[in-house]
Amino acid sequence: MTDETKTIWWNDENNSIMMIDQTKLPVEFVVIEVKTVERLADAIRRLEVRGAPALGVAGAFGVALSAVSCTSDVEFAETVASDAALLKSTRPTAVNLAWGIDKVLRSMENLPPEMARFLAITAAKTIAEADEKCCMQLGHNGATLLPQIGTVLTHCNAGALACSTWGTALGVIRSAHKMGKKISVVSCETRPLLQGARLTAWELHHDNIPVTSIIDSEAAYLMRKGKIDCVVVGADRITKDAVFNKIGTYMHAVCAKHHNIPFYVAAPISTFDVEAVEADIIVEERSRDEVAAFWGKPTVPEGVPVINYAFDATPLSLVTGIITEVGVLYPPYDFSNLRQM
Ligand code: MRU
Repeated sequence: MTDETKTIWWNDENNSIMMIDQTKLPVEFVVIEVKTVERLADAIRRLEVRGAPALGVAGAFGVALSAVSCTSDVEFAETVASDAALLKSTRPTAVNLAWGIDKVLRSMENLPPEMARFLAITAAKTIAEADEKCCMQLGHNGATLLPQIGTVLTHCNAGALACSTWGTALGVIRSAHKMGKKISVVSCETRPLLQGARLTAWELHHDNIPVTSIIDSEAAYLMRKGKIDCVVVGADRITKDAVFNKIGTYMHAVCAKHHNIPFYVAAPISTFDVEAVEADIIVEERSRDEVAAFWGKPTVPEGVPVINYAFDATPLSLVTGIITEVGVLYPPYDFSNLRQM
């Protein structure tokens, strides 16, 4: 991806949403056009678009799409509300999805439909542009924490593909690379849908940032061998007491603590859910099929159940620092002053 490539954007000509189909990477680079809210809901469920900030943008564009698609002024408010509810229900853990949807809904509040349609598109575009600036600033703030020469382990994909562009965890790595630091990356494959192997490795390789792909269970041994200098991951939601991110993140945090390796989380302020605690959050559980087959062949005997949580929670006690667009937060964590942002 170049600096100009976007993951998701609004198509003014057709009043539709354009996005990279992330299920096709790394084999094919395909851009799809999404013309209905139902199709967008499906794209989110299937992970054609994924990653917390990109979901925030998708939700925002989804409300705009609902507004421009509803031609009846009488049914306008009801239709937009039910489309927003449908989109929110697609993936419950990443807070940015509901955040993006609510932000656009607020921009339309109490306005006549014609004006609301226009303002919904404007508000959604503003969210996409702000995400881009936010990633750049966050990347810059985090890059100073990385060593001049070293290896960073990351999990899943918190890259340009998970945002409008640039990325959060990978934004930090990209910014460090741009500063002239000699950073190489160990990318955990991220079972079962392989966002690390397919997407992170693809993005970094494309940008000529040295990257090596490993199976998830190899991370602890590489830490033990002194091959990892630091861990940087993204987040789907940060509550008062925990960081929610792709399943496997907690395991890396525990191992990093054991080996005295800094464990950083990179996330925009929109990922904070400052009123909530870990126990309040619904962790998405995905289908058995994602785990019980490999290359189209069954790997788990029929009748044996599978647990397939998409995310886990890492207690803040394991987090060295949280890199945001407004600076790096350190323990003891207190997010109360983020409430107004
Ligand atoms: O299931 P996914 O691919 O949406 O999960 C994505 C992650 O867990 C990312 O690490 C997170 O959303 C941060 S993206 C900047």
